[in-house]
Amino acid sequence: MSTIRSVVLGSGGYLPEKILTNAELARLVDTSDEWIRQRTGIHERRIAADGEFTSDLGLKAAQAALDNAGLTPADIDLIVLATATPDNTFPAAAVAIQRKLGMQHGVAYDVHAVCSGFLFALTTVDAMIRAGQAKRALVIGAETFSRILDWTDRKTCVLFGDGAGAVVVSAESQPGWRSDRGVLSAHLRSDGRFQDLLYVDGGPSGTGTVGHLRMEGREVFKHAVGVVSGVIDEAFAATGFTAADIDWFVPHQANIRIIDATARKLGIPIEKVIRTVDRHGNTSAASVPLALWEAQRDGRIKRGDLLLLEALGGGFTWGAVLLRW
Ligand code: UT7
Repeated sequence: MSTIRSVVLGSGGYLPEKILTNAELARLVDTSDEWIRQRTGIHERRIAADGEFTSDLGLKAAQAALDNAGLTPADIDLIVLATATPDNTFPAAAVAIQRKLGMQHGVAYDVHAVCSGFLFALTTVDAMIRAGQAKRALVIGAETFSRILDWTDRKTCVLFGDGAGAVVVSAESQPGWRSDRGVLSAHLRSDGRFQDLLYVDGGPSGTGTVGHLRMEGREVFKHAVGVVSGVIDEAFAATGFTAADIDWFVPHQANIRIIDATARKLGIPIEKVIRTVDRHGNTSAASVPLALWEAQRDGRIKRGDLLLLEALGGGFTWGAVLLRW
Protein backbone atom coordinates (compact mmCIF):
# COMPACT_ATOMS: atom_id res chain seq x y z
CA MET A 1 0.00 0.00 0.00
CA SER A 2 1.48 3.36 -0.99
CA THR A 3 1.83 6.25 1.43
CA ILE A 4 2.50 9.99 1.22
CA ARG A 5 5.93 11.01 2.55
CA SER A 6 7.62 14.40 2.90
CA VAL A 7 10.61 14.06 0.60
CA VAL A 8 13.48 16.59 0.58
CA LEU A 9 14.01 17.99 -2.94
CA GLY A 10 16.73 20.52 -2.12
CA SER A 11 18.59 22.42 0.56
CA GLY A 12 20.00 25.91 0.95
CA GLY A 13 21.85 28.04 3.44
CA TYR A 14 23.08 31.51 4.11
CA LEU A 15 25.72 32.88 6.45
CA PRO A 16 26.20 36.63 7.01
CA GLU A 17 29.46 38.02 5.65
CA LYS A 18 30.94 39.24 8.91
CA ILE A 19 33.12 36.67 10.68
CA LEU A 20 33.71 37.13 14.41
CA THR A 21 36.78 35.21 15.58
CA ASN A 22 37.61 33.99 19.07
CA ALA A 23 40.55 36.39 19.13
CA GLU A 24 38.19 39.33 18.54
CA LEU A 25 35.91 38.09 21.35
CA ALA A 26 38.92 37.93 23.66
CA ARG A 27 39.21 41.69 23.22
CA LEU A 28 35.56 42.13 24.34
CA VAL A 29 35.37 39.81 27.37
CA ASP A 30 37.74 37.86 29.64
CA THR A 31 38.17 34.76 27.44
CA SER A 32 40.70 33.21 25.08
CA ASP A 33 40.80 31.42 21.75
CA GLU A 34 42.21 28.39 23.57
CA TRP A 35 39.34 28.23 26.14
CA ILE A 36 36.64 28.57 23.48
CA ARG A 37 38.19 25.94 21.17
CA GLN A 38 38.83 23.45 23.96
CA ARG A 39 35.46 23.77 25.69
CA THR A 40 33.21 24.21 22.63
CA GLY A 41 35.09 23.43 19.39
CA ILE A 42 34.10 26.86 18.04
CA HIS A 43 36.73 28.82 16.06
CA GLU A 44 34.52 31.55 14.61
CA ARG A 45 30.89 32.53 14.02
CA ARG A 46 28.98 34.87 11.67
CA ILE A 47 27.22 38.07 12.71
CA ALA A 48 24.35 39.69 10.78
CA ALA A 49 25.00 43.21 9.48
CA ASP A 50 23.09 46.24 10.78
CA GLY A 51 19.72 46.23 9.05
CA GLU A 52 20.04 42.53 8.13
CA PHE A 53 17.12 40.73 9.78
CA THR A 54 16.21 37.11 10.44
CA SER A 55 13.76 37.21 7.50
CA ASP A 56 16.59 38.41 5.20
CA LEU A 57 18.77 35.47 6.23
CA GLY A 58 15.84 33.07 5.91
CA LEU A 59 14.94 34.48 2.51
CA LYS A 60 18.43 33.84 1.12
CA ALA A 61 18.47 30.29 2.48
CA ALA A 62 14.99 29.69 1.04
CA GLN A 63 16.01 31.01 -2.40
CA ALA A 64 19.09 28.77 -2.38
CA ALA A 65 16.95 25.74 -1.43
CA LEU A 66 14.46 26.51 -4.21
CA ASP A 67 17.33 26.83 -6.74
CA ASN A 68 18.79 23.55 -5.53
CA ALA A 69 15.39 21.86 -5.95
CA GLY A 70 14.87 23.44 -9.39
CA LEU A 71 11.65 25.11 -8.17
CA THR A 72 10.26 28.65 -7.85
CA PRO A 73 8.06 30.28 -5.16
CA ALA A 74 5.04 29.51 -7.37
CA ASP A 75 5.58 25.81 -6.58
CA ILE A 76 5.39 26.35 -2.80
CA ASP A 77 2.15 26.36 -0.78
CA LEU A 78 3.54 26.33 2.78
CA ILE A 79 6.40 28.11 4.56
CA VAL A 80 7.28 27.22 8.12
CA LEU A 81 10.08 29.17 9.76
CA ALA A 82 11.70 28.03 12.99
CA THR A 83 13.08 31.01 14.87
CA ALA A 84 13.40 32.43 18.37
CA THR A 85 14.63 35.76 16.98
CA PRO A 86 11.89 37.06 14.64
CA ASP A 87 12.23 40.54 13.09
CA ASN A 88 9.27 41.79 15.12
CA THR A 89 7.17 40.41 17.98
CA PHE A 90 4.55 40.06 15.27
CA PRO A 91 3.80 39.39 12.45
CA ALA A 92 5.62 36.10 12.01
CA ALA A 93 8.93 36.43 10.15
CA ALA A 94 7.76 33.57 7.89
CA VAL A 95 5.13 35.93 6.48
CA ALA A 96 7.87 38.50 5.74
CA ILE A 97 9.79 35.77 3.87
CA GLN A 98 6.61 34.87 1.96
CA ARG A 99 6.25 38.56 0.96
CA LYS A 100 9.92 38.89 -0.01
CA LEU A 101 9.56 35.77 -2.19
CA GLY A 102 6.75 37.61 -4.00
CA MET A 103 4.14 35.07 -2.87
CA GLN A 104 0.51 36.05 -2.43
CA HIS A 105 -0.66 32.46 -2.22
CA GLY A 106 -0.21 29.72 0.36
CA VAL A 107 0.36 30.00 4.09
CA ALA A 108 3.36 30.95 6.22
CA TYR A 109 3.90 30.82 9.98
CA ASP A 110 6.65 30.59 12.59
CA VAL A 111 7.28 27.83 15.09
CA HIS A 112 9.17 28.53 18.27
CA ALA A 113 11.19 25.78 19.90
CA VAL A 114 14.57 27.57 20.03
CA CYS A 115 17.47 25.25 19.10
CA SER A 116 15.11 22.33 18.35
CA GLY A 117 13.00 24.59 16.15
CA PHE A 118 13.97 23.07 12.81
CA LEU A 119 12.96 19.58 13.97
CA PHE A 120 9.64 20.95 15.26
CA ALA A 121 9.09 22.80 11.95
CA LEU A 122 9.94 19.74 9.85
CA THR A 123 7.66 17.52 11.95
CA THR A 124 4.80 20.03 11.67
CA VAL A 125 5.25 20.30 7.91
CA ASP A 126 5.40 16.51 7.60
CA ALA A 127 2.06 16.27 9.45
CA MET A 128 0.52 18.94 7.17
CA ILE A 129 1.78 17.12 4.08
CA ARG A 130 0.55 13.71 5.20
CA ALA A 131 -2.84 15.25 6.10
CA GLY A 132 -3.11 16.59 2.54
CA GLN A 133 -3.00 20.24 3.68
CA ALA A 134 0.16 21.10 1.73
CA LYS A 135 2.00 19.76 -1.31
CA ARG A 136 5.35 21.55 -1.32
CA ALA A 137 6.84 23.39 1.62
CA LEU A 138 9.82 25.46 2.58
CA VAL A 139 11.09 24.52 6.03
CA ILE A 140 13.48 27.17 7.27
CA GLY A 141 15.57 27.73 10.38
CA ALA A 142 16.87 31.30 10.68
CA GLU A 143 18.30 33.17 13.64
CA THR A 144 20.03 36.40 14.64
CA PHE A 145 21.07 35.39 18.16
CA SER A 146 23.69 38.18 18.10
CA ARG A 147 20.76 40.53 18.85
CA ILE A 148 19.79 38.77 22.12
CA LEU A 149 23.27 38.11 23.51
CA ASP A 150 24.68 39.94 26.49
CA TRP A 151 28.03 40.92 25.00
CA THR A 152 29.48 41.38 28.51
CA ASP A 153 28.68 37.76 29.56
CA ARG A 154 31.56 35.51 28.55
CA LYS A 155 29.57 32.40 29.53
CA THR A 156 27.14 32.91 26.63
CA CYS A 157 28.37 35.48 24.09
CA VAL A 158 31.17 33.23 22.79
CA LEU A 159 28.79 30.38 21.93
CA PHE A 160 26.29 31.63 19.37
CA GLY A 161 26.23 32.85 15.75
CA ASP A 162 23.77 34.03 13.10
CA GLY A 163 22.67 32.11 9.99
CA ALA A 164 19.88 30.38 8.13
CA GLY A 165 19.27 27.02 6.49
CA ALA A 166 16.30 25.66 4.55
CA VAL A 167 14.96 22.60 2.81
CA VAL A 168 12.19 22.16 0.25
CA VAL A 169 9.98 19.17 0.98
CA SER A 170 7.40 17.70 -1.32
CA ALA A 171 4.47 15.29 -0.90
CA GLU A 172 5.56 12.17 -2.77
CA SER A 173 3.87 8.81 -3.04
CA GLN A 174 6.16 6.09 -1.66
CA PRO A 175 5.71 2.32 -1.24
CA GLY A 176 5.34 2.64 2.57
CA TRP A 177 8.51 0.73 3.40
CA ARG A 178 11.61 1.43 5.49
CA SER A 179 13.45 2.04 2.23
CA ASP A 180 11.13 4.97 1.37
CA ARG A 181 12.57 8.43 0.83
CA GLY A 182 11.36 11.23 3.12
CA VAL A 183 10.60 11.68 6.81
CA LEU A 184 10.33 8.17 8.25
CA SER A 185 9.82 8.91 11.93
CA ALA A 186 9.71 12.06 14.08
CA HIS A 187 9.82 12.25 17.87
CA LEU A 188 9.41 15.54 19.73
CA ARG A 189 9.46 16.30 23.45
CA SER A 190 9.36 19.26 25.80
CA ASP A 191 9.61 19.72 29.56
CA GLY A 192 9.16 23.14 31.15
CA ARG A 193 10.81 22.18 34.43
CA PHE A 194 14.13 23.11 32.83
CA GLN A 195 13.14 26.65 31.83
CA ASP A 196 15.54 28.34 34.27
CA LEU A 197 18.58 26.62 32.74
CA LEU A 198 18.24 28.32 29.34
CA TYR A 199 15.98 31.30 28.68
CA VAL A 200 15.79 34.95 27.64
CA ASP A 201 15.17 37.38 30.50
CA GLY A 202 12.71 39.53 28.57
CA GLY A 203 9.67 39.34 26.32
CA PRO A 204 6.63 41.29 25.15
CA SER A 205 4.33 40.12 27.93
CA GLY A 206 6.88 39.59 30.71
CA THR A 207 8.95 42.77 30.61
CA GLY A 208 8.10 44.69 27.47
CA THR A 209 11.75 44.32 26.43
CA VAL A 210 13.56 41.88 24.15
CA GLY A 211 15.89 40.65 26.88
CA HIS A 212 19.14 38.69 26.83
CA LEU A 213 19.94 35.00 26.66
CA ARG A 214 20.84 33.40 30.01
CA MET A 215 22.19 29.88 30.38
CA GLU A 216 23.51 27.55 33.06
CA GLY A 217 25.78 25.90 30.51
CA ARG A 218 27.16 23.14 32.71
CA GLU A 219 23.64 22.05 33.72
CA VAL A 220 22.38 22.10 30.12
CA PHE A 221 25.41 20.06 29.10
CA LYS A 222 24.62 17.45 31.79
CA HIS A 223 21.09 16.93 30.45
CA ALA A 224 21.83 17.22 26.73
CA VAL A 225 23.35 13.82 25.95
CA GLY A 226 20.91 11.85 28.14
CA VAL A 227 17.59 13.30 26.97
CA VAL A 228 18.58 13.35 23.31
CA SER A 229 19.72 9.71 23.43
CA GLY A 230 16.30 8.81 24.86
CA VAL A 231 14.38 10.28 21.96
CA ILE A 232 16.78 8.76 19.43
CA ASP A 233 16.12 5.34 21.00
CA GLU A 234 12.39 6.01 20.47
CA ALA A 235 13.02 6.75 16.79
CA PHE A 236 15.00 3.51 16.41
CA ALA A 237 12.34 1.49 18.26
CA ALA A 238 9.58 2.93 16.05
CA THR A 239 11.35 2.03 12.80
CA GLY A 240 13.54 -0.98 13.59
CA PHE A 241 16.63 0.91 12.43
CA THR A 242 19.76 0.90 14.57
CA ALA A 243 22.75 3.23 14.77
CA ALA A 244 24.57 0.91 12.33
CA ASP A 245 22.01 1.81 9.61
CA ILE A 246 22.70 5.57 9.82
CA ASP A 247 24.65 7.07 6.91
CA TRP A 248 24.84 10.59 8.41
CA PHE A 249 24.27 11.82 11.94
CA VAL A 250 23.24 15.51 11.78
CA PRO A 251 23.05 16.83 15.35
CA HIS A 252 22.31 20.33 16.61
CA GLN A 253 25.60 22.21 16.66
CA ALA A 254 25.93 23.54 20.22
CA ASN A 255 29.25 22.13 21.38
CA ILE A 256 31.67 19.68 19.79
CA ARG A 257 31.97 17.82 23.11
CA ILE A 258 28.19 17.23 23.27
CA ILE A 259 28.13 16.15 19.60
CA ASP A 260 31.03 13.71 20.01
CA ALA A 261 29.69 12.32 23.31
CA THR A 262 26.27 11.67 21.74
CA ALA A 263 27.82 9.98 18.70
CA ARG A 264 30.02 7.86 20.99
CA LYS A 265 27.04 6.84 23.13
CA LEU A 266 25.13 5.78 20.00
CA GLY A 267 28.16 4.00 18.54
CA ILE A 268 28.17 6.18 15.41
CA PRO A 269 31.71 6.65 14.04
CA ILE A 270 32.93 10.24 13.89
CA GLU A 271 33.33 10.08 10.05
CA LYS A 272 29.52 9.85 9.83
CA VAL A 273 28.90 12.95 11.96
CA ILE A 274 28.24 16.30 10.24
CA ARG A 275 29.98 19.02 12.26
CA THR A 276 29.81 22.75 11.48
CA VAL A 277 30.05 24.19 14.98
CA ASP A 278 33.72 25.13 14.46
CA ARG A 279 32.82 27.71 11.78
CA HIS A 280 29.19 28.57 12.58
CA GLY A 281 29.01 28.43 16.39
CA ASN A 282 25.56 27.61 17.73
CA THR A 283 23.04 29.07 15.28
CA SER A 284 20.06 27.64 17.19
CA ALA A 285 17.23 26.63 14.80
CA ALA A 286 19.49 27.23 11.78
CA SER A 287 22.17 24.75 12.83
CA VAL A 288 20.65 21.49 11.55
CA PRO A 289 19.51 22.83 8.12
CA LEU A 290 22.86 24.61 7.69
CA ALA A 291 24.62 21.30 8.38
CA LEU A 292 22.33 19.53 5.88
CA TRP A 293 23.06 22.18 3.25
CA GLU A 294 26.80 22.04 3.77
CA ALA A 295 26.98 18.27 3.64
CA GLN A 296 24.75 18.03 0.57
CA ARG A 297 26.79 20.71 -1.20
CA ASP A 298 30.14 19.02 -0.56
CA GLY A 299 28.75 15.67 -1.77
CA ARG A 300 28.64 13.80 1.54
CA ILE A 301 24.83 13.53 1.82
CA LYS A 302 23.42 11.81 -1.26
CA ARG A 303 20.00 10.69 -2.42
CA GLY A 304 18.95 7.54 -0.59
CA ASP A 305 21.15 8.16 2.49
CA LEU A 306 19.55 7.54 5.90
CA LEU A 307 19.94 10.58 8.18
CA LEU A 308 19.42 10.96 11.90
CA LEU A 309 18.70 14.55 12.96
CA GLU A 310 18.55 15.60 16.62
CA ALA A 311 18.45 18.77 18.71
CA LEU A 312 17.87 20.10 22.21
CA GLY A 313 16.94 23.68 23.04
CA GLY A 314 15.50 26.08 25.59
CA GLY A 315 12.31 24.94 27.28
CA PHE A 316 13.68 22.29 27.25
CA THR A 317 12.48 21.14 23.87
CA TRP A 318 14.13 18.26 22.04
CA GLY A 319 13.59 15.79 19.27
CA ALA A 320 14.91 13.31 16.74
CA VAL A 321 13.94 12.71 13.12
CA LEU A 322 14.87 9.80 10.85
CA LEU A 323 14.88 10.92 7.25
CA ARG A 324 15.92 9.26 4.00
CA TRP A 325 17.36 11.89 1.64
O1 UT7 B 1 21.84 25.12 22.07
C1 UT7 B 1 21.15 24.90 23.26
C2 UT7 B 1 21.86 23.99 24.11
N1 UT7 B 1 23.05 24.58 24.65
C3 UT7 B 1 24.07 23.82 24.94
O2 UT7 B 1 24.02 22.66 24.66
C4 UT7 B 1 25.24 24.40 25.69
C5 UT7 B 1 25.66 23.41 26.75
N2 UT7 B 1 26.78 23.80 27.55
C6 UT7 B 1 28.04 23.93 27.07
O3 UT7 B 1 28.28 23.83 25.90
C7 UT7 B 1 29.15 24.13 28.07
O4 UT7 B 1 28.66 23.93 29.37
C8 UT7 B 1 29.80 25.53 28.01
C9 UT7 B 1 30.63 25.63 26.73
C10 UT7 B 1 28.74 26.61 28.04
C11 UT7 B 1 30.77 25.71 29.19
O5 UT7 B 1 31.70 24.64 29.24
P1 UT7 B 1 31.97 23.89 30.63
O6 UT7 B 1 33.07 22.94 30.40
O7 UT7 B 1 30.67 23.35 31.12
O8 UT7 B 1 32.52 25.06 31.52
P2 UT7 B 1 31.92 25.60 32.90
O9 UT7 B 1 30.65 26.33 32.67
O10 UT7 B 1 31.95 24.52 33.90
O11 UT7 B 1 33.03 26.69 33.26
C12 UT7 B 1 34.39 26.31 33.58
C13 UT7 B 1 35.17 27.57 33.95
C14 UT7 B 1 34.44 28.46 34.94
O12 UT7 B 1 35.41 28.99 35.79
P3 UT7 B 1 35.62 28.38 37.28
O13 UT7 B 1 34.29 28.55 37.96
O14 UT7 B 1 35.99 26.96 37.05
O15 UT7 B 1 36.73 29.23 37.82
C15 UT7 B 1 33.84 29.56 34.09
O16 UT7 B 1 33.70 30.77 34.82
O17 UT7 B 1 35.33 28.38 32.75
C16 UT7 B 1 34.89 29.71 33.03
N3 UT7 B 1 34.36 30.29 31.79
C17 UT7 B 1 35.14 30.85 30.86
N4 UT7 B 1 36.47 31.06 30.80
C18 UT7 B 1 36.97 31.66 29.71
C19 UT7 B 1 33.09 30.31 31.35
N5 UT7 B 1 33.02 30.90 30.16
C20 UT7 B 1 34.28 31.24 29.83
C21 UT7 B 1 34.86 31.87 28.71
N6 UT7 B 1 36.19 32.06 28.69
N7 UT7 B 1 34.12 32.28 27.65
